[in-house]
Amino acid sequence: MSTALPFQFLVTSLLLFLGIIYRARTGGRPPGLPPGPPGLPFLGNALQLPSKDAYKTFTKWGKQYGPIVAVKVFSQSLIIINSVKLAADLLNKSSSSTSFRITRRMVQLSGFDRSIPHLQPTTEFNKSRQYTKMALGAIEMTQYEPEHQRRALRLVIKLAQNPKNIYNEIGVWVALGFEHIAYGTDDEEDASGFVEMGRHALAIFTAASDPMIVWAVDVLPFLRHFPSWLPGMSFKRKAREWKRVLRDILNKPFHHAVRKINAGLTSQCLISRVAESHSLDSLDEDDLVILKNAAMNIYIGGFDTMTSIVASFYLAMVLHPEAQTRGQQEVDSVTGRSRLPTFADRPNLPYVDCIMKEVMRWAIPTPFLFPHVQDPTSDAMVDGVFVPRGSLLIVNTGGIFEDPKIYANPLQFWPERFHDKNLLDPLSIAFGYARRQCTGIHFVEKRLWITIATTLATLNICPPTENNSRMPKAEWTDGPVRLPLTYDAKFNVRTPALLET
Ligand code: HEM
Repeated sequence: MSTALPFQFLVTSLLLFLGIIYRARTGGRPPGLPPGPPGLPFLGNALQLPSKDAYKTFTKWGKQYGPIVAVKVFSQSLIIINSVKLAADLLNKSSSSTSFRITRRMVQLSGFDRSIPHLQPTTEFNKSRQYTKMALGAIEMTQYEPEHQRRALRLVIKLAQNPKNIYNEIGVWVALGFEHIAYGTDDEEDASGFVEMGRHALAIFTAASDPMIVWAVDVLPFLRHFPSWLPGMSFKRKAREWKRVLRDILNKPFHHAVRKINAGLTSQCLISRVAESHSLDSLDEDDLVILKNAAMNIYIGGFDTMTSIVASFYLAMVLHPEAQTRGQQEVDSVTGRSRLPTFADRPNLPYVDCIMKEVMRWAIPTPFLFPHVQDPTSDAMVDGVFVPRGSLLIVNTGGIFEDPKIYANPLQFWPERFHDKNLLDPLSIAFGYARRQCTGIHFVEKRLWITIATTLATLNICPPTENNSRMPKAEWTDGPVRLPLTYDAKFNVRTPALLET
């Protein structure tokens, strides 16, 4: 029996226990909190929490109660921010007190609490991000430009060869790209089985962390002290099994990379950069764990998000041939169809930039992730807003990207809107805030841009059938990271010679 319970069911059954375990201090709405939907005693707004498309409900509440909305789930305050300015004030200006993360028991039990998204802002957090920067920093990503170009070409070749399995091709391409950056693994090698292990580890990470999946032990932490053979304690066995998967993905690719470094065989990667600057032998056991987690986080943080945004770009091209044609014309005018575009062409390819911004806005993979948390030990007052200690601070990025006051006809895919230089650049907020800003931001800006430019130069992306009978829809899955629903497309090669360069 699984102990991951559907939220509504869990809430209802917990009513029986609440009288005993609930602390009376959490009864009403504390004075000074921003407005929000009225809740029930004890439960707060738990029953109003959406089980699907949460960001749309957050937007609705924003229209009803204003740009900042407070709701309560049991004793947990959620502050939902529907305004770019308030998000910057709360999360950038007050970052020293708003950069915490929520502690989830299932995350702790399975060992994922040492991965960057779950680390509290401590020395370990700083070290972990520092390591990550050694592979993904702005300078490193600029040095990596030739590799980005090579890998973008590899994807278009793969899609042209095997258009039947778009998701698999993109997913394997994304994973091998991360394996190269983290562990220096060459091309198609994947000798440590990283791609498969990564998929497994990410599924676990998501199950343990998804705010919409409530584990019994997260609500009733004392359950962790009960023996695992008791009925309803299957979460303990699950956590033990998950820990084993985590141990494998932390160690196997790492040891493979170290063996290659020692044999002088590896290309530049996170592990080799650390080895050059510190010597791996000088790292103590704790530092090694931090380094292994930093390397693994490149996959955990990047896999679904990157797969999603690249798949959404191809979807946009199927659905909007006019944007595709305009992009192709711009690229052709610079390359003369005699060579592939490079990063040096970027200043002359403004429409490719517009497409990248519009894909990010129209199909943001993370409409409201990951919530920051106000310092659990102190309340705050920011711009007259009272933020109780330990509140979850949720920026409704998906809602901001669909706000017609910012973007006219927001549901329409229309890259031309970004010719207006005053329009909010989606990339300026899509990757989050301050100390917690996405560690993959420079990677995405480079890899996504060159993938778009290379695709426009080489492929015609078309609906799967001539009569448009199986036209894909602009629809995404629900979940912490959303992906476009599976679709088919044809990838016809425009200039075969370019695929041979
Ligand atoms: C389109 C692609 C991506 C989007 C939209 C995205 C978005 C985000 C967002 C919104 C956050 C939370 C920031 C905050 O809390 O303020 C985040 C965190 C994170 N991202 Fe990304 N991301 C993307 C790709 C990547 C890639 C490619 C990597 C790694 C190579 C990555 C690694 C991470 C990590 C490790 C964190 C946790 C940072 C922390 O908690 O300190 N992401 N990302």
